[in-house]
Amino acid sequence: MLLLMMMTMMMMWVGIGELVITIVVVFILSKSYLKLKRRRESRRGRVPQGTLGWPLVGETLEFVSCAYSPRPESFMEKRRLLYGKVFKSHIFGSATIVSTDPEINRFVLHSDAKAFVPCYPKSLTELMGKSSILSINGNLQRRVHGLIGAFLKSPQLKGQITADLHRYVEAAMDGWKDDQLIYIQDEAKLIVFQILVKGLIGLEPGEEMQCLKQQFKEFIAGLMSLPIKLPGTRLYRSLKAKRRMGMLIQKIIQEKRKKQNGPDTARDVVDVMINEDREQLTDDLISDNMIDLMIPAEDSVPVLITLAIKYLTECPLALNKLEEENMQLKSSKLALGEPLQWTDYTSLTFTQHVITETLRMGNIISGIMRKAVKDIEIKGHFIPKDWCVFAYFRSVHLDDELYEEPYQFNPWRWKDKDMSSICGGFTPFGGGQRLCPGLDLARLEASIFLHHLVTTFTWVAEEDQIVNFPTVRMKGRLPIRVKRRS
Ligand code: HEM
Repeated sequence: MLLLMMMTMMMMWVGIGELVITIVVVFILSKSYLKLKRRRESRRGRVPQGTLGWPLVGETLEFVSCAYSPRPESFMEKRRLLYGKVFKSHIFGSATIVSTDPEINRFVLHSDAKAFVPCYPKSLTELMGKSSILSINGNLQRRVHGLIGAFLKSPQLKGQITADLHRYVEAAMDGWKDDQLIYIQDEAKLIVFQILVKGLIGLEPGEEMQCLKQQFKEFIAGLMSLPIKLPGTRLYRSLKAKRRMGMLIQKIIQEKRKKQNGPDTARDVVDVMINEDREQLTDDLISDNMIDLMIPAEDSVPVLITLAIKYLTECPLALNKLEEENMQLKSSKLALGEPLQWTDYTSLTFTQHVITETLRMGNIISGIMRKAVKDIEIKGHFIPKDWCVFAYFRSVHLDDELYEEPYQFNPWRWKDKDMSSICGGFTPFGGGQRLCPGLDLARLEASIFLHHLVTTFTWVAEEDQIVNFPTVRMKGRLPIRVKRRS
């Protein structure tokens, strides 16, 4: 009909020759448009099965209620049975493809910003700021990641952190009395925060550290809040706390700039970053990123330590083996009269298996969210542009196709595990360009804490349970009653 009207109008204006050409052009254009439309529609047909739930809220309520339960993966399990390992949903305000398929998760992790960009809830992006490593993409992200990663992996920092941890852990544990109730989560948070903040901005324990910790607690409380920035709201208070922390960190940056230490004498991450060009690595960018890097210091690493102790307490066989390995190391070093080096800890095979198994079962970061910047097809699944992908690690780590008796804490399973055969099946630290640059440090800190605890004390744990949302933690901060070894 439209075509007919167009032709009639054209006949009034142009001659027959032009009309024929116009008809041919319109015909070709409309044919290729229809072909494109049909191809898009057929691809849309391959958007994974699933349901988008209710208008606006989608399936968020069910997702959150499962996330609060002891089995957050039950949301995925139910849909996996109906639609398979990859399905569509609508959570946190976005149409989302949820993947519990290791291959697809790997693909997403290894894609760059031409395919996927990070996608976080609004309150989180608001608090992290535009220049946070978690928000930036492309060359700048690679550059900041490279600088931070190289320093965090350096033997010099690992040596410094090992020496500091020895001092802090010993000082804290010296104060523990027999039969005293110790809250492991609090102890781990206190120690790890101070150590990592020193490695990040060079601040020593004291009044300023106390103030920073106080502000940081206020800041972190708003990460998963309603995105409303009015005075009195959670987000508003967290942003204010971030501004106060920013002022303290900027003061430290300026003092360091005046001293002008070269990159060879870098003792913390700020030292490394201020030796780069100031145009790209501005003081604001450095300060924002230092605050973000404090999140694993206050949260992920202490939780890793706490969960390892919880799982070990529930598995006496593994605890005995860990004690044996660590006692051996302690006595061999005592006999030689040598202090423990960071390499001593990383060579404790069974202790490393305990940490790996804790990461698998604990799922401290349950998954990552990305947004597709163009239409993408993976393994026959179509992901439309602007949709989110939630690569859910937790379901993969607890998948009985990959791990025998997945809910059983079994550090021995890692003894002969061929990691290449579970490609994408074990990603507690993510992967690809955004692979966690702090993974070695997290493992090292957990190893040192465990070593000192098991070689100095025995303990009985009180009843407690894991909470999985919005972040993983122990509900009662894991209270244990300690007894010093004779
Ligand atoms: C148990 C402890 C930790 C866990 C489970 C963990 C997990 C993760 C995961 C899954 C990612 C990937 C995020 C994504 O792809 O979007 C990540 C990124 C990151 N992690 Fe960790 N992390 C831990 C400890 C640390 C530590 C100790 C630091 C440094 C002090 C650190 C610094 C970072 C940074 C800077 C990124 C962002 C990398 C980028 O986007 O380029 N993490 N971490």
